[in-house]
Amino acid sequence: MSKLAPSILSADFSRLEQQIGLIEKGGADYVHMDVMDGAFVPNITFGGPVVSSLAGKTSLPFDVHLMIERPELRLQDFVTPQTEFITVHQEACTHLHRVVQQIKGLGVKAGVALNPATSLSVLEYVLDDLDMVLIMSVNPGFGGQKFIPGAVDKIRRLSYIREQEKLNFVIEVDGGATLSNAAMLKEAGCDIIVAGSAVFGAEDVPERVREFQKIIG
Ligand code: DX5
Ligand code: ZN
Repeated sequence: MSKLAPSILSADFSRLEQQIGLIEKGGADYVHMDVMDGAFVPNITFGGPVVSSLAGKTSLPFDVHLMIERPELRLQDFVTPQTEFITVHQEACTHLHRVVQQIKGLGVKAGVALNPATSLSVLEYVLDDLDMVLIMSVNPGFGGQKFIPGAVDKIRRLSYIREQEKLNFVIEVDGGATLSNAAMLKEAGCDIIVAGSAVFGAEDVPERVREFQKIIG
């Protein structure tokens, strides 16, 4: 059984509370929040104040994906009573081990994201400490991009490593997930599937969440 984390990147930013209400109604498991700084990725979304303002407006846990440089300077901004995961990019952290400990020190689960071109091997000495590994299946920065097929093999290999080493982190996939590839992503070993445009682009958002859950839940 996999979980669904719709990304509000593809939601209507002028009414986020209402939009999150739609995914909650459909039975989503998390709200995925894409924080972009215009430096690590070529796009700017929102920061801590928006994330904090949404706490208490939904009962869904927050899955915060930081696509920002120097995330260690801003971690605290994303801690709310509903923040379950804070994920940073390996490519944005010079001292990844320290950042992971900082996230955990804030009482939040720690995730590390890998861009499509980044090898799993960079996580070898930190894997043991992680609560989540996020495999990017598009180059981060924008919603609505095409799924990069090489991500599937990466997920399978990571799932194999997790089993061999008896580790407990969850595997999340982010980018280009659709109703057509969701079953394959679940089978490859994903515990959490992020979907932005495939959920918020639907005419009936709660129904689309239900359709995903029928496939992966
Ligand atoms: C991409 C973001 C994703 C994005 C996914 O940089 O991290 O979370 O919202 O959007 P879709 O599902 O449309 O590819
Ligand atoms: Zn994301």
